[in-house]
Amino acid sequence: MFKQSFGSDNHSGIHPEILKALIEVNQSHSASYGTDELSREFEDKLSKTLGTSLKSFFVFNGTAANVLAIKPFVKSYESILCSDIAHLHVDECAAPEMFIGSKLQLLPSENGKIKAQDIKTHIQRLGDQHAVQPRLVSITQPTEVGTIYSLEELKEIKNTCSEHNLFLHIDGARFVLNEKAMNCSLKTLIQTAQPDSLSFGGGKNGLMLGEAVVFFNTEYAKDFKYIRKQAMQLPSKTRFFAAQFIKLLDVYNEIAEHEIKLAKLLEEKIKNLKNTEIAFPVQTNVVFLKFPKAWTKTLKQCRFFYMWDTGEWIARIMMSFDSTEEDVLEFYKTLKHLDENH
Ligand SMILES: Cc1ncc(COP(=O)(O)O)c(C=O)c1O
Repeated sequence: MFKQSFGSDNHSGIHPEILKALIEVNQSHSASYGTDELSREFEDKLSKTLGTSLKSFFVFNGTAANVLAIKPFVKSYESILCSDIAHLHVDECAAPEMFIGSKLQLLPSENGKIKAQDIKTHIQRLGDQHAVQPRLVSITQPTEVGTIYSLEELKEIKNTCSEHNLFLHIDGARFVLNEKAMNCSLKTLIQTAQPDSLSFGGGKNGLMLGEAVVFFNTEYAKDFKYIRKQAMQLPSKTRFFAAQFIKLLDVYNEIAEHEIKLAKLLEEKIKNLKNTEIAFPVQTNVVFLKFPKAWTKTLKQCRFFYMWDTGEWIARIMMSFDSTEEDVLEFYKTLKHLDENH
């Protein structure tokens, strides 16, 4: 066990309000496999929050959410366009290639984001029987490096998808941070990006476990219950997933505000240091730091973190709902000491 960790927002425990919701729902019996009242209540509440009709299905983890949120849209001879640092590509052990059976086509990323123009460049050889046919774009919001696509960028990506008959998926492992980070409602985000499907994250946002696969293009949700079962991602006691997600919809902005505030505090402090660099814009709950390799052990003894890039030696410092100002300041103090004595 770590003291308090900056390793990931899934190193923290369960948010107290969410734990309370779990205990409350533990008092009675309930229908199962998504036929329970709470699962429908969550779907209605999410639909109101996002301002559109949708279908939602719980799964156990984010990798499954991504793979299954894409699978209904893409055939094996069609491709998925995503960034070269997409979780889908880098951290899913080729699950997309295995379960969807499709090729990933990698687009260059800048600060974690792809550009509409690069999507266009990949629209080639349509109708050519020798070439894979592009069918879906997957973006991550917030991105893997904690950055945010602006509404303008989302609109441009959506327009490009529409022009070229491509579906759009959003990996939203940390989707609930968007409202505070973008300074606009989740409804506006969804109305602007108009994704066909979304992986709506729970595990990184204070839940014990659980993610939701959300379809806005509900036509493609029709066979999803079979797809999820075949993929062994159908939980039986879905009321526990639903109860957590219903509560998340009440508390997400509080979580987001807290995490973003702490990340920005660390960023502000670090700006004064001479030998420590911030590698990506700080827009959500994470700060990427470049510092001399020799400092790593001492820093990790203060608060645990992972190296993001062992070539460039960039560390990922990530806030959780229960990270504190004291955690940030203690870490900064250690870093400042190393920086000044370098
Ligand atoms: C951007 C992003 N997408 C998806 C996931 C997948 O989550 P899991 O580890 O639950 O499969 C993660 C987890 O790190 C993530 O950071």
